[in-house]
Order: sequence, then structure tokens, then C-alpha cells
Amino acid sequence: MQHLLSVNDMSEDFMIEIWKDSLKNKDNPSNILKGKILTNLFYEPSTRTSSSFYSAMVRKGGSVIPINNVKFSSVTKGESLEDTIIAMSNLSDCIVLRHPEIGAATRASKVSSVPIINGGDGEGEHPTQTLLDGFTIFSNNNLSLDNLTITFIGDLKNGRTVKSLVKLLSRYKNNKFNFVSPENLRIPEEIRPKSCFETNNIDEVLERTDILYVTRVQVERGSSHDYALNIDQLNRLGKKSIVMHPLPRVNEIPKEFDQDSRAKYFDQMKYGLWCRMSLLEKILS
Ligand code: NCD
Repeated sequence: MQHLLSVNDMSEDFMIEIWKDSLKNKDNPSNILKGKILTNLFYEPSTRTSSSFYSAMVRKGGSVIPINNVKFSSVTKGESLEDTIIAMSNLSDCIVLRHPEIGAATRASKVSSVPIINGGDGEGEHPTQTLLDGFTIFSNNNLSLDNLTITFIGDLKNGRTVKSLVKLLSRYKNNKFNFVSPENLRIPEEIRPKSCFETNNIDEVLERTDILYVTRVQVERGSSHDYALNIDQLNRLGKKSIVMHPLPRVNEIPKEFDQDSRAKYFDQMKYGLWCRMSLLEKILS
């Protein structure tokens, strides 16, 4: 059984296969998962991840049990995560779990009789976001993830998408990392690559950035700050640079940048659907 708990569970070959399939999926819904059932079990808010898994499953012919609001489930009665997972693994063929605690997906995998996909565990990881982030970079960088300068900006302490993507990009050759954040939201040491540049001033690195990965302040994890980018700063990026954001955005990127060809954040969402279609097919068929 194949769980997807961390980026470490995905080999390079596995991801390349998913990305190649993803390009086919865009015009290719199928019935290959007919009769299969996915449980979306979300203990934290989500728009994109839950809907994207829902849409991916249905486009492959399968069905979904959507538990997007645990307030209306037995969790409110005091049921443990483990018992809920045992119940849902008897009723479905795969579970996507989002949970506020680090390690929740790993805990779930210990008791589940079906594959667990980590849809975000607290400040931990978000491997399927990395799958689509990787695809976005791969398809904008001549099908490679080497030789890039990546600047991460925002709440690097609490944002799980950053941690998962740094893990992925650290595997490839000649990548340079810049981390831009307020002092109290710095990237944790265990994730930070050995050689990198840290600053609290984006202006120091904008001109030498290929990929600008912007994240919001994770207010629900106790952080607060304000670091909105302005259009003049974004316009200082090179013509071939790209701007990514896992979304939701609050005020980090001005709306007027959305029409710029370097803005890739809405494309990311579309790629997420294709990647999740391939992933579910791989795990379930
Ligand atoms: C991210 C998450 O939940 O970690 N959202 C997403 O899945 N696209 C990012 C965030 O909430 O800031």
C-alpha cells in the first residue's frame, strides 16, 4: 500500500511519471476509477486542496465522501483521529487527510487499511502541493528543476508548502535559495539548506530571482505581520522569472499583477487538478 505522507515518499521517477501523465489528463477525463471511493477528511479549512481532489476523483470516474466540516461529524462527539480513520478506511479506498497537527497523517497511516494522502499536517508538510508546484516549475523551466534561484517570501516558519518545496528543490543540482521573512518567521533550521541567503528585505534579491514563491501569514498558527509586495517591486523581476503562490492570497500580491505573464498562481491551481488525477490513478488503479 502506498501512502503519501511527505515529499520524501516521492522519488524523482515517480514525480516525472505523474507530470507526464498530467499533461495527458488535461483533455482526458476517464472512467478508470469507476467504483472507487475517496474520503476527503478535512479538520482545517480548505478550498483548493479539497475541491481539487474532489474534481480529480470525479473526472476519473470515482466518487467522494466529503467530510469538509468535522463539526458535523463524530469528531465533535470526541472521536479520536485513529477511530475516525479506521471507520473511513472501511468505507472508502483512499483518504486525503488535512489536520492541524504535525504528524497526523503518519498517525493515520498506522491504523488505516487504505492509502493515506497527507493534504497538509499543521506546520508540517503538504506533498501534493509540492507535486503541483514542482510541475509548475518543471513546465516553465524546460522540463528541469536544476540551476534555479528560488526566493521564498512570507511566513517561512509556519507555511508547510514552503517546507515541502524546499525539500524537493534541494534534491536537484545548482539551485540557490533566498529566504525573505521577518526575523520571527524564519525558515526552521532543520529545513534550511546548508548554503542559502536569508534577509528581511526582498529588494536585496529581486533582480536575481528566477522563481518568487510568495506565501501568506499563517494567522491561524499565531503569526502576524504585513509584507505586501508592490507592483514596482514585482516589475523588477526578470522577464523570464515567475511568481508562484499556493493561495489563498491575502494582500501579498497586488491584483493588478494577475494579468502579467509571470504570474503563475492561478495556473498552479489548474495543474493541481491534473497532478491529482494522475496521483489518484497511480494509487488506486
Ligand atoms: C496552503 C495550505 O493549506 O498549506 N493552501 C493550499 O493548500 N493551497 C497554503 C496556505 O494555507 O497558506
